[in-house]
Amino acid sequence: MNGEKDFWAYWKSRQRLVERKIDEFLPKDGPGPRILRDAMRYSLFAGGKRLRPILAIMGYELAGGQDVENEVLPQAAALELIHTFTLIHDDLPAMDDDDYRRGKLSNHKVFGEGIAILAGDTLLVEAIRLFLQGTQPPDVKIEMMNELIDAIGIDGVMGGQAVDLQSEGKKPTEELVRYIHTRKTGRFIRAALVIGGIASRNLSVVEPYRKIGENIGLAFQIADDILDEIGDEATVGKKVHKDRERGKCTYTALYGVAKARSDARRLVDEAIGIARSLFGEDAWPIVELANFIVERTY
Ligand code: IPE
Ligand code: IPE
Ligand code: MG
Ligand code: MG
Ligand code: MG
Repeated sequence: MNGEKDFWAYWKSRQRLVERKIDEFLPKDGPGPRILRDAMRYSLFAGGKRLRPILAIMGYELAGGQDVENEVLPQAAALELIHTFTLIHDDLPAMDDDDYRRGKLSNHKVFGEGIAILAGDTLLVEAIRLFLQGTQPPDVKIEMMNELIDAIGIDGVMGGQAVDLQSEGKKPTEELVRYIHTRKTGRFIRAALVIGGIASRNLSVVEPYRKIGENIGLAFQIADDILDEIGDEATVGKKVHKDRERGKCTYTALYGVAKARSDARRLVDEAIGIARSLFGEDAWPIVELANFIVERTY
């Protein structure tokens, strides 16, 4: 049986692949203004977990994909560019107004608001360029791209972020928190796994991946809310107690930490059950990743 030690080796090796791809795609020197490139690279290499790209690669490999480098790595790395764009904008004074991210000053604190906005915009646009790389036939790329657009568009991350902002100071309800959490975070995480499945062209995995992704995506945001309540600032790499301060409609504000924990655990256990029934013992990377999502301290 593969234990946790193997999982961290697995995680680190995929992290390295993703970071190498990003570095190759957006090297220190290249066309365009230096300041924009520096700002983009600053947040890209500030030490993210790389969860979304790793999920895409994992989804591809578990479904039988054999050519990570050419069939899923460009898309996986593109997800990290988009995720980083959402973080830079999320931290802006007009949004959550956070000074720290990934254990470092947030982008606008270093480069100013204007460049931070543009660095985010450029990450999104350049992510599309990267997403279109690789050897997948155009119809497969379009299918993956549609999955991505659904996850980040008006009824995805952007919609979730808009409702998150508009709900500050409101009384959290189950319906509201569910909308915010599934849209601002859950669907993007789900899309990462599904994109890996589409890339493998073993389409039997797509529906189960959707359910697994939905559960671990929601659990991920619940865990983020819990970390804001009880996490250690240095370990989390961002300021804590910010959600309560800003009156955010979080899962913990709605139900408290204990129920948030048990609900996240239940979501993850259900996802693990589906993964096991799909892949048996071979499901271990998803099992370990799902456990990490609820047990994480950062
Ligand atoms: C933080 O995402 C934002 C949320 C969606 C909760 P991560 O916790 O994946 O952040 P990094 O990429 O590891 O910094
Ligand atoms: C972030 O939600 C979701 C994004 C789309 C970036 P949060 O606002 O809770 O994320 P953190 O806590 O700042 O990382
Ligand atoms: Mg936010
Ligand atoms: Mg925030
Ligand atoms: Mg948060």
